[in-house]
Amino acid sequence: MKYVEFGKTKEYLSEMCLGTMMFGDRCSEAEADRIIARAIDAGINFIDTAAMYCDGFTEKILGRILNGRREKVFLVTKVHKGVDKKSIIESIDESLIRLKMDYVDLYLIHWPKKGMNPTEIMEALNQVVEKGKTRFVGCCNYPGWLVTHHNAIAERNNWSMLVCNQIPYNLIERGVEVEVLSQAYAENIAITTYRALVLGLLSGKYRPGESIPAKSRGVTDERIGNWLSQYGDGINKFLKLADELGITPAALAISWVRYSSAVTSPIVGVSSMNQFESCLQAFEFDLTEDQYNRITNFFDTEVKEETGGAYKDIRRELRLLKASDTLTAD
Ligand SMILES: NC(=O)c1ccc[n+]([C@@H]2O[C@H](COP(=O)([O-])OP(=O)(O)OC[C@H]3O[C@@H](n4cnc5c(N)ncnc54)[C@H](OP(=O)(O)O)[C@@H]3O)[C@@H](O)[C@H]2O)c1
Repeated sequence: MKYVEFGKTKEYLSEMCLGTMMFGDRCSEAEADRIIARAIDAGINFIDTAAMYCDGFTEKILGRILNGRREKVFLVTKVHKGVDKKSIIESIDESLIRLKMDYVDLYLIHWPKKGMNPTEIMEALNQVVEKGKTRFVGCCNYPGWLVTHHNAIAERNNWSMLVCNQIPYNLIERGVEVEVLSQAYAENIAITTYRALVLGLLSGKYRPGESIPAKSRGVTDERIGNWLSQYGDGINKFLKLADELGITPAALAISWVRYSSAVTSPIVGVSSMNQFESCLQAFEFDLTEDQYNRITNFFDTEVKEETGGAYKDIRRELRLLKASDTLTAD
C-alpha cells in the first residue's frame, strides 16, 4: 500500500481509505471486524465513517472493533445534525460516546446547507479542535470556492482551516472536474472521493439487459437501474477491458479515480470481505495514459458547460498556476 501526504496535515495516510457506510447495514459486525483486521494487515490506516450511518450504529460498531486498535488508524467522522454551532459541538460529543474514543482525527461538515454561516461553522470547528476532540477539520460535498471562502475566514481569525474536501467522483459523475479538483490541487486541500463504483454499477454485478441482482443496492436505489440503461454500451466495453487487463471491474473503476493527481485517497466502501479483496487490487494497478483515455471515452460523461473553448479548458486545468504558486508537490 502506498502512503500519501494528506493535504497540509503532514500526516502520511494509506492511499486507500476504508469506507464504513455499509457496516451494520449490508455488512454484519462480524464481517466488518474481519475486514478491518485484514485492512490493517494490508497497511490501511485510514477509515471513514459518519454519525448518520445507520443512525449512529456504524460508529458504535467501530467503537467495539477499534477497541485496542485505535492508534493504528486515522479516523474520520462527520457532523450529524445541522451546521450551526450547537449542532457541530453536540454532534462530536455524541460521536465520541458511540465510538468510545477521546478524539477523532478528522471531523467533517457532511453537507453544505442553505443559509449556512461560514464564520459560525469555522469558529465552532476550531473550538472542537481546541478542546482536543479532533485533530483536523474538513468538509464534504463543497464547491471549490466555498472551501476557499471558509478558509479565508479561518485564516483571518487564526482558526483551524479545512484540510480536506470529500466528494463523489467516478466515471459517470464528473462534475468535480470543473472546479473542485483544481481548487483543491492549487491550495493543497486533500481530496477523498466516494462512489468510485457508482454505487456498485461498475463492479460487474450489473449487466446491461439483465435484471438487477437480488440483494444488491440496485434493488433499492433506482439510480443504478437508470444509469445501467443509459450507459449500457460503455459498461459492456468497460467490463470487457477489465477482463482483458486481468483485474476486477471494481479495481479498474477505482484505478480510474486514483489516476487524477488531485485525488488524495479514494474511499472504498464494501459489504463483504470478497469485495474488499477485489477492490484492493486497484492500489497496485496504475493505468497508463492510453488506458485512462480509452476508459474515459467509453462513457460520454464529461461535463458540458454553457461556454466551451479555452474557458472550458482553463476551468479544468490543474496546473493553471505557476509551479511556485501551487502548494501541492507533484
Ligand atoms: N461524504 C459523503 O457525503 C459520502 C456519501 C456516500 C459515501 N461516503 C463514503 O464513501 C464510501 C463509499 O461510498 P459508496 O458505498 O457509495 O461507494 P461505491 O464504491 O460507489 O459503492 C459501494 C458498493 O458497491 C458494491 N461493491 C463494492 N465493491 C465491490 C466489489 N468488489 N464487487 C462487487 N460489488 C462491490 C457494494 O454494493 P452491494 O452492497 O450492493 O454489494 C458496495 O456497497 C462509504 O462507505 C462512505 O464511507 C461518503
